Amino acid sequence: MVILDGKKISNDIKNEIASEVQKMKDNGEKVPHLAAVLVGDDGASLTYVGSKVRACERIGFESTLVKLPHTTSEVELLQKIEDLNLDDDIDGFIIQLPLPPQINTQKVLMAVDPSKDVDGFHPENFGKMALDMSTFIPATPFGILELLERYDVDTKGKHTVVIGRSHIVGRPMSILMSRKGWPGNSTVTLTHSNTKNIAQITTQADIIISALGVPNFLKAEMVKDDAVIIDVGITRVPDESHPKGYVIRGDVDFENVSKKASFITPVPGGVGPMTIAMLLKNTLLAREQRKSM
Ligand code: GUN
Repeated sequence: MVILDGKKISNDIKNEIASEVQKMKDNGEKVPHLAAVLVGDDGASLTYVGSKVRACERIGFESTLVKLPHTTSEVELLQKIEDLNLDDDIDGFIIQLPLPPQINTQKVLMAVDPSKDVDGFHPENFGKMALDMSTFIPATPFGILELLERYDVDTKGKHTVVIGRSHIVGRPMSILMSRKGWPGNSTVTLTHSNTKNIAQITTQADIIISALGVPNFLKAEMVKDDAVIIDVGITRVPDESHPKGYVIRGDVDFENVSKKASFITPVPGGVGPMTIAMLLKNTLLAREQRKSM
């Protein structure tokens, strides 16, 4: 069994990007600038955005954190997005999700200039992804592809079962794994909350990508020998014995499933760190594209 070490690979990627940034600086060029918009004070979102900003600093990007109160109206947020769209210094930006209930997420994501949409959430970019056109691939699916590639995991002709149909992970992942090329060329089954007999499906899978958010959901008896297991779950489970008052748990019963798997991602230290690395990669891409605009 091989652990897909997202912590190590994400560090490799960040170092690769940092050396690109150094070259830009040496040539007197503008370095990539990522902005993140955070509405409200959801604990997990604050943590994620904080990590994104720190990662920018580490590799030499410029970063801007736009913090708006939880009472922000849709009109106010749309105005902020327009400012970022027009700001020539900003190469890419993200709107951290989820948004408060008074704001229509779809409307907001559609307001982002597709050329600055480094999350790849705009319908234009999502459509391009589905049509095999060059675009920003959402960071978490992009990170999973990168892990499969760097560990030389064979995906051609394999049966990939995706658990969860979210717009951020499950749905794009199902499209990407069925695309021509590598990683891809899989036969994909997308399962969700209305799927019947899910264990009957997962036991036939060569590759399982679980993005459900239910700790310990995927048990050893749901997995066949030598399966590749990708755990996208990151649920905060209350634990008073821990200084933070919680621990992070994945969707997979790692202790038992890892005994059967050929490759498996740990939580934490698997897919999570890859997401940030690929957001940075998309931002670098956005800068390069703007240079030639
Ligand atoms: N919320 C959970 N994951 C993500 C992500 O990848 N991007 C943004 N913007 N918000 C998220």
